[in-house]
Amino acid sequence: MHFPTLFSPAQLQILDELKTRDLEERQAGSTEVMRVRALRQNVARFLHLMVLQTRARLVAEFGTSAGYSTIHLAAAAQRMGGRVFTVDNVPEKTAWARRSLEAAGLSEVVELFTCDGVEFAEALPSPLDLVLVDYGIPTFLPALDTVKAKLRPGGLLFVDGWGMDEEERWETDPDYRAFKEGLEGDPGFVAWRMPLEKVHLLAVKL
Ligand SMILES: C[S@@+](CC[C@H](N)C(=O)[O-])C[C@H]1O[C@@H](n2cnc3c(N)ncnc32)[C@H](O)[C@@H]1O
Repeated sequence: MHFPTLFSPAQLQILDELKTRDLEERQAGSTEVMRVRALRQNVARFLHLMVLQTRARLVAEFGTSAGYSTIHLAAAAQRMGGRVFTVDNVPEKTAWARRSLEAAGLSEVVELFTCDGVEFAEALPSPLDLVLVDYGIPTFLPALDTVKAKLRPGGLLFVDGWGMDEEERWETDPDYRAFKEGLEGDPGFVAWRMPLEKVHLLAVKL
């Protein structure tokens, strides 16, 4: 099978609509709260494969937005008989994601939360197979220990990326340093800052 055939026509349509709108917003330099801000398609596809590879039953996502990444995670989780838990702190975004997931036929697979990610992390079930963080590291940092404890051995934590030219932040910013120390300094995890088009952090619980 190749990628398009992993999605239904309805899923492909909503993914295409969201990606088109996202591109237009990025080209226009939009700073609206209600912009799509979707993962890059190659990253979303990589995560879809990681859900399949880990045979994930419990997936958590920090940063739902309009549901572009959630559809990628949920379509794979559905195939595995799994579930996706996702959070956004903007109620209108949760409502938008709900509409996207309904259009994609994936509502049954996804539980949407509207709250801060720290509260969400406390409410998450365990053991988690895969966690996507798609908002700022300083914002996520207070939830890191909770998420680490809830990941199963072999579970993956993926943090969507930052520009290649922003690498010095890991040494200079106290929140980034604390985050790095929380993973690279923990013998229970192996973490890699993975340089693709951007740099993404991929950590595995040992
Ligand atoms: C980059 S967007 C997520 C994009 C989405 N994962 C996708 O690929 O379609 C980040 C989202 O995180 C949400 N967010 C930011 N801070 C948050 C927090 N503290 N708790 C929950 N959600 C938050 C924002 O409202 C925004 O919708």
